[in-house]
Amino acid sequence: MRAAAVSLPRRLAAATSFSSRTAITPNLGCDEPCRRLRRGPSRAAAAGATFFAAPLESPPTVRYAPNLMDLAPKSDTTALRPRVLDAFARHSSYEGDGFLNHCIRLFELTKLVMEAEQIDFDDDVAFGIAMFHDLGLTMPRDESPSYMHRSLRLLQDEFGELCEKVDDTVLSECMLLNHRVFPVPTCSSAAEAFRKAVWIEHTRGIKRYGLLDKAAVQDVFERYPRANLDKVLLDFFWITVRNEPRTITNGILF
Ligand SMILES: [Fe+2]
Repeated sequence: MRAAAVSLPRRLAAATSFSSRTAITPNLGCDEPCRRLRRGPSRAAAAGATFFAAPLESPPTVRYAPNLMDLAPKSDTTALRPRVLDAFARHSSYEGDGFLNHCIRLFELTKLVMEAEQIDFDDDVAFGIAMFHDLGLTMPRDESPSYMHRSLRLLQDEFGELCEKVDDTVLSECMLLNHRVFPVPTCSSAAEAFRKAVWIEHTRGIKRYGLLDKAAVQDVFERYPRANLDKVLLDFFWITVRNEPRTITNGILF
């Protein structure tokens, strides 16, 4: 039962009539380094607390606050996106906008690559993959081979119906191969699009594979600022070095 109160920025509280709804507390299932960075509810957690606190079994009405309209790109099929953001808020243990914006940029950049390469891929699934792609790092290590496997399992556990929209193998490739330094020749074009987007993200738009308009990429970085991402990535690095160093030696970024 998610019941603890979460304070909200005044401008958000004033912009909504949802203040009487049940608030949620994000799940702190993270390693100690995560807690070092945590001083309060993340932007996503605060947003989720106010707007997406409805039980997941009853799809929430899509009513975005002005800032969340920017966070969750809309289409006719975005009923799942508030739920994805809500799940992200529950599982992310980082304050600030850095991690949240990193994931949203990955979605936006992946869509740009897919459009440029004319890859047909479900927008909501792409959003789910992008928002969950690093969440395995915030989960306790178990028998899973890597944090990417934990990210995949978490997405499947939370959004099984969403995952069914794409082929299992393609879904797995998108989640497990997106951080590879080099292309995996046999993987799907969708997975390669995610991998390219990760590189565009980590080179801050310098690398664009000759596909993307510089202004379009810069626009993504401007709309979702980097914020405290460097601090989060440093935390990811130490978590990985300590728990699964082979992930790094296999040539993986975050
Ligand atoms: Fe990442």
